[in-house]
Amino acid sequence: MKKITIHTEFSVFESINELDQQTHDLMLKAIEIRKKAYAPYSKFRVGAAVLLDNGEIILGNNQESAAYPSGLCAERVAVFQAGSLYPDAKILKIAISATSDIHPTQKPTPPCGACRQSISEYEQKQTTPIEIYFMGETGEIYKSDSLENLLPLSFDKDFL
Ligand code: THU
Repeated sequence: MKKITIHTEFSVFESINELDQQTHDLMLKAIEIRKKAYAPYSKFRVGAAVLLDNGEIILGNNQESAAYPSGLCAERVAVFQAGSLYPDAKILKIAISATSDIHPTQKPTPPCGACRQSISEYEQKQTTPIEIYFMGETGEIYKSDSLENLLPLSFDKDFL
């Protein structure tokens, strides 16, 4: 028997003011679109802003359904829209902000497992890393230099 160790690392920014200008502006867009989430059931709003290498910014927020599993997370709304509009563009970075209407949170809120898997597909397709920045309503921002940090040992097309 042997063990393998996987190293994963995040940068922590104290607030959006510590981000570079481009990322700061992207996060502001994530915050704005978060407020328009359709989340009547969970009251938990998430906004995502995707920056492409052609300069386009694609936004998404979570869309819920009375048939709960039919809803979709903000991150996938945004990356699927980016993929459908600009199939040849690369995703450079994604900014995410999430909070509850009931218990506003300052905890950096990472993308769920299903969103990690979906973002991973794009990272593998484009063969360049995607920076992921995530935060709560306010407070610290975590940055991952690539999606791989958030989803080590991911399942991908090479296993098919
Ligand atoms: N949600 C997201 O939009 N992104 C995530 O990564 C986690 C969860 C949404 C789905 C649902 O509308 C609400 O947050 C509560 O789970």
